[in-house]
Amino acid sequence: MQATFALPLRRAANPRALLAGALAALLPGLAAAQFTLAPLPYPSNALEPHIDAMTMEIHHGRHHAAYVNNLNAQIKQYPELATLSLEDMQRQISRFNMAVRNNGGGHYNHDLFWQLMAPEGQRGQPGEALLADIGKTFGSLADMKKRFDQAALSRFGSGWAWLIITPDRKLAITSTPNQDNPLMDLPDVQRGTPILGLDVWEHAYYLKYQNKRGEYVTNWWNVVNWNEVTRRYDAAMK
Ligand SMILES: [Fe+2]
Repeated sequence: MQATFALPLRRAANPRALLAGALAALLPGLAAAQFTLAPLPYPSNALEPHIDAMTMEIHHGRHHAAYVNNLNAQIKQYPELATLSLEDMQRQISRFNMAVRNNGGGHYNHDLFWQLMAPEGQRGQPGEALLADIGKTFGSLADMKKRFDQAALSRFGSGWAWLIITPDRKLAITSTPNQDNPLMDLPDVQRGTPILGLDVWEHAYYLKYQNKRGEYVTNWWNVVNWNEVTRRYDAAMK
């Protein structure tokens, strides 16, 4: 009896445990932080030479991290954010303020973007059904890329180009400003499920390409993870 009683006393007296308990009591806001920055799904130099390691490190470790931190700062004003998936947040984004729209959008968009690229040998090709649908909708894969490039290049300022599945299950190309995306319930957004998206903010390419957005877009096609695009297409068309 004596031994089992003594053990918890020794644990409670551990200064590290006492410090951790005191910090948890003093900083309850930390416990509410719901959204986290996942590590890149590959090394930061895995997309070279098309996208350089430093761009990836700054883009993920500073820009994406800032969207996550700024989104978590909004949980105090909107506690319900902590109960929503990132996708559901986009679908009802009109309920929230601009900080949630910009940073919630930024977190969703970048989470998706990292997955839509892959190291050499893991990129695959568009699946059979996706390729047939691209042919039916745009003429050919090359024609789809041309249309997508136009959307990326004509987006004035910062934003994204998207290949989406519309609510009537058709492929379409669209673009959004800032960190908006096609899931958002906003009047100026062509809505649908994104299966491919390209970040055309200058922070995505400026270190390597400076003002040459066209060159960045052309080279980006080399790193597209067609396995993931196909998986998303098949899931959306089920
Ligand atoms: Fe970005």
